[in-house]
Amino acid sequence: MTAGRYREGWLPDKFSGVASCPAVNLSRVRPRRAGVAASGCVSGQDRRWNHNIHYYPLVLAAVPPGCQRVLDVGCGEGMLARQLAHRVPSVVGIDQDTVSIELARRQGSGGQIEFVRGDFLTHPFPPASFGLITCVAALHHMDAAAALARMSQLLASGGTLVIVGVARSRLPGLPWDAAAVIANLGHRVTKGYWQHPSPAIWPPPHTCRQIRALAGETLPGVRYRRHLLWRYSLVWVKSAS
Ligand SMILES: C[S@@+](CC[C@H](N)C(=O)[O-])C[C@H]1O[C@@H](n2cnc3c(N)ncnc32)[C@H](O)[C@@H]1O
Repeated sequence: MTAGRYREGWLPDKFSGVASCPAVNLSRVRPRRAGVAASGCVSGQDRRWNHNIHYYPLVLAAVPPGCQRVLDVGCGEGMLARQLAHRVPSVVGIDQDTVSIELARRQGSGGQIEFVRGDFLTHPFPPASFGLITCVAALHHMDAAAALARMSQLLASGGTLVIVGVARSRLPGLPWDAAAVIANLGHRVTKGYWQHPSPAIWPPPHTCRQIRALAGETLPGVRYRRHLLWRYSLVWVKSAS
């Protein structure tokens, strides 16, 4: 089920009957270019808000002390990468969408951030080369098991992985979803809503429960949290052994 102008996480869950762990259906990918000004760049970025940006502080708070190099997976037009660049000396953002990467490069921050156009699953990053890997609203675009395994492989010992993801509720109409709709309206009235220009997928292929189980198998000791605005987070520190 799709809607051309669908926004991730805006609708309450109505898709609990979808089979478990299906491969990503590319017919559900919708490139979104709204929010890109005529110049091709977004403007007024400091005050932008949406369900992904709302959880950037959670990601920034998890930056390990002394982290030297971070990879943002599915970086879109690079807003999180630019914020990470204030805390980490070397930032790499990767996205397979050409328009998103071009926008990111145009807004880049003085050579401190490298934006790579490519598929995270196959791009030849050296193993154990990042002290932090972040991924916001992109895991559900990929084969999640393969992506988690790749993140684990690319993370240095003692490094931190932070994922903010989009997944379905198991049952429709939960009180949780009702609360989310109310909270969402409050945020939108006070902050507006910035429609990011990158491809989006709805419905996400996994339920929160499935993601939690999958992450538990791949990332021993991972901390899973469910958040109000249709997001969950995973935080994992790779053992130093
Ligand atoms: C919904 S957008 C999220 C963008 C951004 N992280 C944010 O916080 O808004 C998901 C992004 O993941 C990217 N993506 C999906 N699969 C990818 C892959 N295998 N490798 C790199 N990027 C990918 C898409 O092109 C898209 O820009």
